[in-house]
Amino acid sequence: MAVAELASDVRILWQMLRGQPKSGSHAERLQAFYAPQADRYDAFRARLLHGREELIQRLDLRPGERVVELGCGTGSSLTRIGGRVAQLAGFDMVDLCPALLAVARQRAAGHPQIRVIEADATTWQPDQPVDCVFMSYALTMIPDWSQVVANAQAMLAPGGRIGIVDFHLPEDGSRLGNALWRQWFAHDGVHLSSQHLPLLRRQFVERFSTESRAAVPYLPGLRAPYYLFVGTQGDQLNEPGPLSVTPPDWLLKAD
Ligand SMILES: C[S@@+](CC[C@H](N)C(=O)[O-])C[C@H]1O[C@@H](n2cnc3c(N)ncnc32)[C@H](O)[C@@H]1O
Repeated sequence: MAVAELASDVRILWQMLRGQPKSGSHAERLQAFYAPQADRYDAFRARLLHGREELIQRLDLRPGERVVELGCGTGSSLTRIGGRVAQLAGFDMVDLCPALLAVARQRAAGHPQIRVIEADATTWQPDQPVDCVFMSYALTMIPDWSQVVANAQAMLAPGGRIGIVDFHLPEDGSRLGNALWRQWFAHDGVHLSSQHLPLLRRQFVERFSTESRAAVPYLPGLRAPYYLFVGTQGDQLNEPGPLSVTPPDWLLKAD
């Protein structure tokens, strides 16, 4: 590894060791955490956030579709979608962190069908129903994560697709292993849960899911658990229907 890359990694690791600030609003904490690392974010996360390429492949984005990404960060999904983005009818990339959105705006330049939007994924809604909504490693960073699932479901057209890849606590994971991962990620404002997959399976018609583990930079021998889920909006008569926009108390208390 080149000295410049190593120096860049050290700065990112320092930021991650300092963790997210404990005070301020959710948006302020995201900005304070990400602004110092925005320009080096992608290179480090490429080795930490696995399954993002597979998610885009499995979503099978088609010409003419309207697509939303919630928690888009630097808009790196554009590099994975590639030339297909030009054929989409619209692609709205939503995030709450101005520092990361500035990078996303540079990436989106020259694509009139892309809108880069600073907004909260728990409440933002597109102008019209969309064919596909996806999130990569954003659900765990949003305290009210079940509200985001409800909000994503509310924006999907009938038969529309949802895709999510994120860290989680696997049901077959050891208590100690899960506790360690939960603690390690929580320091950076990433809240691992065992409830994501069960909720997604209840609310959508499952088309594909997988649970796996992948390497974490600078933690040799340790592999963090993550899942990938792709589902479709049910027809609401015979299949799962929308989550109420205000989730029940038992759900909010889960993990
Ligand atoms: C780990 S990053 C992942 C970014 C990107 N999806 C990727 O794969 O590189 C999590 C992202 O979620 C965003 N985020 C956190 N809470 C949010 C919220 N309430 N609304 C919108 N975005 C949010 C953060 O700003 C950050 O960009």
